[in-house]
Amino acid sequence: MAAAELHLRPATALGEEELARALERAYEDYVVPFAMDVDRLRRHVDANDVDLDSSLVLVDAAGDVAAVALLAVRGERGWIGGFGVTTPFRGRGLGHRLGALVEDAARQIGLRELQLEVFVQNDRARRVYDAQGFEAVREVLILTRPPSGPPTPASLPVPATDPSVVLSTTRPDPDPVWQREAAGVARVDGVQALVTPDASAPRGAMLLLDGAAGALVLDVWGDAEAARALTTELARSRPDAAATLLNEPDGSPALPGLLAAGWREAGRQVEMRKRLG
Ligand SMILES: CC(C)(COP(=O)(O)OP(=O)(O)OC[C@H]1O[C@@H](n2cnc3c(N)ncnc32)[C@H](O)[C@@H]1OP(=O)(O)O)[C@@H](O)C(=O)NCCC(=O)NCCS
Repeated sequence: MAAAELHLRPATALGEEELARALERAYEDYVVPFAMDVDRLRRHVDANDVDLDSSLVLVDAAGDVAAVALLAVRGERGWIGGFGVTTPFRGRGLGHRLGALVEDAARQIGLRELQLEVFVQNDRARRVYDAQGFEAVREVLILTRPPSGPPTPASLPVPATDPSVVLSTTRPDPDPVWQREAAGVARVDGVQALVTPDASAPRGAMLLLDGAAGALVLDVWGDAEAARALTTELARSRPDAAATLLNEPDGSPALPGLLAAGWREAGRQVEMRKRLG
């Protein structure tokens, strides 16, 4: 089918089930396994400020989804939090068209900047974003850590604390990646916080979520020593849990400590941004 015969709709034209299914189809053969359902979609929308009215889908005459783009909004900044073309429609320029459409949607609601992350090996997506004028800002890592086995004593006392204390404390990185911004993390149900001593002015902190697949670290900051101590406590308190950490900026002060404490690089993304005017 020619791309011109596709119809542009807001993502709200689909029900939640349909949208979750459309995203799964748009992420077929992705760089990493991608699973979406209504619960995951709701959490993604809530934590990341996805604006479904400004997000869009392209559908064919039969109502089949050809492409989906999710646009998240914070002030005058936008983040592309989902972007894909379903396999029957790939390789015909639709990725480029979708990129232009999401940028139009961002301009229409007055956004001045768009940002996104793309896996370094995702050449097709990268060609779309490069052609559109996005510029690479930094690389961010996905780190994983296997379960550590039986508990060992902590090297430093690392207390669990109230996440709101940590979230209200000034984070040393003034420009965290989108999914780590405190505004969003504060809205995630069940977040646990670990801090290095002196909770009133933490030298380092880790925010995490315990789940069936292990511990998901939503954010960590501090110097290398703090990152090591936080990981030691994570491993001591959750000896049977594997752990995943999203979007650690390459070259961050914490990274050497994380690697020394057994975290390993499992993926690398490029953060890209484009000024809109
Ligand atoms: C990335 C994606 C959206 C591209 O959509 P698409 O409609 O296939 O892309 P287009 O036809 O517009 O082509 C985009 C570029 O990829 C290239 N490309 C397309 N298919 C390709 C293939 N099979 N192998 C290599 N390059 C390919 C095109 O040549 C084009 O580059 P160019 O304009 O410099 O020549 C699509 O592959 C997809 O949905 N992938 C899974 C989800 C995903 O990766 N999303 C991005 C998240 S950041």
